[in-house]
Amino acid sequence: MKKLFSLVVIVSLLAVFAPVVSAAPAAQGQEYIVTAGDWLSKIADKYLGNPLAWPAIMSATNTKNLEDSTFAKITNADLIEPGWKLWVPSKEEAEAFLKTYDPSKPELLFGKGAKGQLVVGSWWTAGGEAEGLAGMFKIYKQKYPDVEIVNATVAGGAGSNFKAVLKTRLIGGAPPDTFQLHAGLEVEGYSPEQYLEPLDDIYASEGLETAFPKDLLTLLKYKGHYWGVPVNIHRSNVMWYNKAIFAQNNLTPPTTWDEFFAVCDALKAKGITCYGLGNNGGWEAGHALEDVLAGTCGAEKYRGLWTGATSWTDACVTQALETFKKMVGYANTDYPALDWAGGAQLIVDGKAAMFIMGDWTDGYFTSKAFTGYGWAPPPGTKGIFVALSDTFALTKKAPNPENARNWLKVCGSKEGQEAFNPQKGSICARTDCDPKLFNAYLQSAMVDWSKDAIVPSVMHGAAAIESWATDYKTAVNLFLTSGDVAGTQAALQAACVKAGACK
Ligand code: GAL
Repeated sequence: MKKLFSLVVIVSLLAVFAPVVSAAPAAQGQEYIVTAGDWLSKIADKYLGNPLAWPAIMSATNTKNLEDSTFAKITNADLIEPGWKLWVPSKEEAEAFLKTYDPSKPELLFGKGAKGQLVVGSWWTAGGEAEGLAGMFKIYKQKYPDVEIVNATVAGGAGSNFKAVLKTRLIGGAPPDTFQLHAGLEVEGYSPEQYLEPLDDIYASEGLETAFPKDLLTLLKYKGHYWGVPVNIHRSNVMWYNKAIFAQNNLTPPTTWDEFFAVCDALKAKGITCYGLGNNGGWEAGHALEDVLAGTCGAEKYRGLWTGATSWTDACVTQALETFKKMVGYANTDYPALDWAGGAQLIVDGKAAMFIMGDWTDGYFTSKAFTGYGWAPPPGTKGIFVALSDTFALTKKAPNPENARNWLKVCGSKEGQEAFNPQKGSICARTDCDPKLFNAYLQSAMVDWSKDAIVPSVMHGAAAIESWATDYKTAVNLFLTSGDVAGTQAALQAACVKAGACK
């Protein structure tokens, strides 16, 4: 207690004196102890005469931290805490840094370990995703303590913002070492032969061809090579529901669309939103529709939509669009403002009864310590598993290729996957993970994965090339406002023709 008191006194004395003593920029740079109410740009303004110079303080502090752990490690510029020791560089050093700084390259904000950095690009910033990734980083750090891991995330589910940033970096010749890539045709959009390294040697050295199921290996191969090491299997078609709402209203989760709408009518009469939706990322509605398409057309015909074997003019597509339009009619009206996590939060808060979204939602619920949820396949999709898989790829111009190769080995390992998936809300891509590490939902997903008809997700890179997935997404977003079933169906058919899959 006494110790704590004196620490408080010292910190408060520093708070009082530090700015007064050292407000003039020191020629050599100087230490600074964070006080309550500080933020980086305020400190940058005060000591460097430029609030926009905060990245120079972040970078300088993180570099110091690698040699001297009494300096803080700043992983998020918005989160600095009273008592933290920072290093404020001189004005000249800060200016020199800012000349080379590029906000799309977060690695510049971190120092280099004795063995350099590992720059990992992904869009995993939401609850569950972030924890899963941190779990895998922990394993890597235990094995390679001298490597500084840089978590180069760009927020936005399904990579809605990340993919564009990554493409610019790839084309500009300054990519991260490794990045999140969906298994399947998404890789085509990154011109892999030009920008990525084939990973066949890692598959061989790590025995990955025997670790993953055959169908997944087929999905992973593009132009004769493996371009990503899968960390998981996700399921797109899950209908999450708030158990309390169903119990309090004497309702059971629907298994058919008729039942779904009957539940919606019953809840609407009581002023409760039955279908929770968030479409702020611009892909979430497209995600829900892929599940409705699978449930309405059936596994075989749904698969055919992406190969040209089923025409988009088919009656099941008309029916799916009609159903989806009706669903949206029951959704919360603020859906354009909510992203997928905002939609999931409606279930947590008891503000909506049902939510159709991939099983990263299970990771989200777990991260919020929310247990009052149930799950079921959306109507029509019992026995169908709309699948996707996240992998990590290696860029040709990776600044730290050896570190990146070691990362990919962790990604493919049992240890890495067991640290990642229970928090991420996905099941292992490997077939040998211990089911006991997973919660009841994920155990049920494992069973379904082993026996259901597996069909590919379009909104998450498995079913179609990126440009087709984008055209599909655009058509669905227009549909939300137009409600034009015939026009949307024609646009979806045109997208298939454009992609070269339909005549
Ligand atoms: C998917 C990705 C998942 C999850 C989701 C929401 O595209 O495969 O891992 O992160 O986006 O961000």
